[in-house]
Amino acid sequence: MDDATPEQPHKRRVRYRGTHPHRFDEKYKELNPEKYAADVEHVISRGDTPAGTHRSICLAEVLDILNPQPGEIAVDATLGYGGHSQEILKRILPDGILFGLDVDSIELQKTETRLRNAGFGPERFIAVHSNFTALQNMLPKVGHPAVDMILADLGVSSMQIDNPKRGFAYKNEGPLDMRMDQEKGETVAHLLSHLSEAGIAALLHDNADEPNAKVIARGIVGKRQEMTTTRALSKAVKLSLAGLNLDDKAVAQAIRRTFQALRIVVNGEFSALEAFLSEIPYCLKSGGRAVILTFHSGEDNRVVDSFEKGKLAGLYSRTQDAEIRASNEEKYSNPRSKSVRLRWAIRS
Ligand SMILES: C[S@@+](CC[C@H](N)C(=O)[O-])C[C@H]1O[C@@H](n2cnc3c(N)ncnc32)[C@H](O)[C@@H]1O
Repeated sequence: MDDATPEQPHKRRVRYRGTHPHRFDEKYKELNPEKYAADVEHVISRGDTPAGTHRSICLAEVLDILNPQPGEIAVDATLGYGGHSQEILKRILPDGILFGLDVDSIELQKTETRLRNAGFGPERFIAVHSNFTALQNMLPKVGHPAVDMILADLGVSSMQIDNPKRGFAYKNEGPLDMRMDQEKGETVAHLLSHLSEAGIAALLHDNADEPNAKVIARGIVGKRQEMTTTRALSKAVKLSLAGLNLDDKAVAQAIRRTFQALRIVVNGEFSALEAFLSEIPYCLKSGGRAVILTFHSGEDNRVVDSFEKGKLAGLYSRTQDAEIRASNEEKYSNPRSKSVRLRWAIRS
């Protein structure tokens, strides 16, 4: 062995109970898709998303509307795993450029490495650690004040949801964090340590249409000293609903909505989306295309409203007449696509 290369200690793979790994960190095959391609394919064929990856939603529909052409300039405002970006890049080569933005520096670095390894050099694919609210400010600085297409696939990625350490998953134990950008902002645990009961109820109602917002808020406040983990929050929601005679499905939905509402707050998702929507027309060339994938009514209403107003103001020549949803086949093979709505607009 070369003296200059320190020997790497042999790492035993994690052991799991039973025939299948259950915990995120036990899924070593899924977390190494290059080495275990057949196992990863098997997970996908079951309708699951392999740990540490993300399956792009409405890929064919997105490409159909964005219609990327060689030499065009593209922005993927929510790079994530880079699945949409990779397909756009293939179509805009050899001279096109794609700017991929993400607030999550942890996943951004991994995606940049993955796309570099897939052959996209720094002159064609530029990874940017940024909120998409900074797009209009950023584009002139990189020499492209207006671009041919902008994509945003809102919300969180499967990598973020599945990794218990990020605190998004109500089914797994983890720190109650939920920040997409772990370099700034307040964790959910911190938010719940000081927000008033009325404040919590309002955000559950406004961000997730939770019908039992007041009851849940009371339950959360009663347990807020212990509220540092995802399980503690799930348990507090469940306990707060105990007197209402709800079935398990309704309780699970309330927990899911509570997590969604809090995630939206700590990431400032609605204010960021509104700012971004107001910038899009000024970042697109004439004839430029914008596609946005939304996953709940709070996002979708804002996008529809902005595109309609933009059309009335003459900023867009066309917007979608009817919503586009994932095909039945996609919904079956990737359940995370069930709630998607695709919206598009063309710059006049
Ligand atoms: C659903 S994933 C995108 C998946 C991607 N389309 C793909 O095919 O792999 C959404 C990503 O957007 C990022 N994100 C969410 N809000 C953002 C914002 N305001 N600015 C930049 N990135 C954001 C998240 O961190 C996450 O990585």
